[in-house]
Amino acid sequence: MTPATNFIAASLEDVSRLDALVSLRHLTSLCGNSIVFSTSFGKEDQVITDMIYRMEGGIRIFTLDTGRLFAETYSVWTATMERYGIPISVQVPDQEALEPFISLNGPNAFYSSPALRRECCRIRKVEPLKRALEGAQIWVTGIRSAQSPNRQSMQRWEWDEVNDIYKYHPLLDWTDEQLDEYVRLHEVPCNVLHERGFPSIGCAPCTRAVRPGEDPRAGRWWWESNDQKECGLHQHGSPGQ
Ligand code: ADX
Ligand code: SF4
Repeated sequence: MTPATNFIAASLEDVSRLDALVSLRHLTSLCGNSIVFSTSFGKEDQVITDMIYRMEGGIRIFTLDTGRLFAETYSVWTATMERYGIPISVQVPDQEALEPFISLNGPNAFYSSPALRRECCRIRKVEPLKRALEGAQIWVTGIRSAQSPNRQSMQRWEWDEVNDIYKYHPLLDWTDEQLDEYVRLHEVPCNVLHERGFPSIGCAPCTRAVRPGEDPRAGRWWWESNDQKECGLHQHGSPGQ
């Protein structure tokens, strides 16, 4: 880590003790326009988008359009742009990688093997993410501890070795109730799939609804065992220092 990143590390430690909105404001004052936020239009991401709107800019919002999202996700994406009137930049998969992959393996190759599933995620998510993060110093996400057991040990900020960037999760310790309260209070537009048993929403062919009491992420890549459920966007980095 360079002296500049060390400085950010020290500041992030302080920032992460602040309330989510205040911390985002503080981050923009520290790092100017080198902060980016990734949205998949899930409830957490919608809350953060609402906060960024309230801050009147400073954080660039982007999404990764895998080409396989739910129709409902495209609807809430549209509603979000209409509601907030802010740009959401988009990264799509590289055609030169995607076309041969589909030609060779078919459109639903992800069900055939974990290796093909990971390759699909690499082409549709991980490589576009790298492009989206270019030039940024801090990557804000909507990750919360309550989403899964392996997110419970995460910290609000971490150093992402793979992408060479700080990640900041402002809602990490928010409960479901806090999230719902914010949505109600500020009338945040949400994906209707949340009301239909989808706490976590990814690509349509790889996400199903969960039953009451089931792990919130049980519907993601449901045909794979738990230790394989990793799309490569969030590989655990070490807490930055
Ligand atoms: S994933 O690794 O399983 O796909 P998850 O759906 O829990 O991630 O989302 C966690 C965070 O990752 C979101 O809050 C968002 O910041 C980011 N994210 C996930 N999918 C996308 C996407 N398609 N585009 C942009 N950001 C995304
Ligand atoms: Fe492909 Fe499924 Fe990964 Fe989406 S979640 S990129 S459709 S394997």
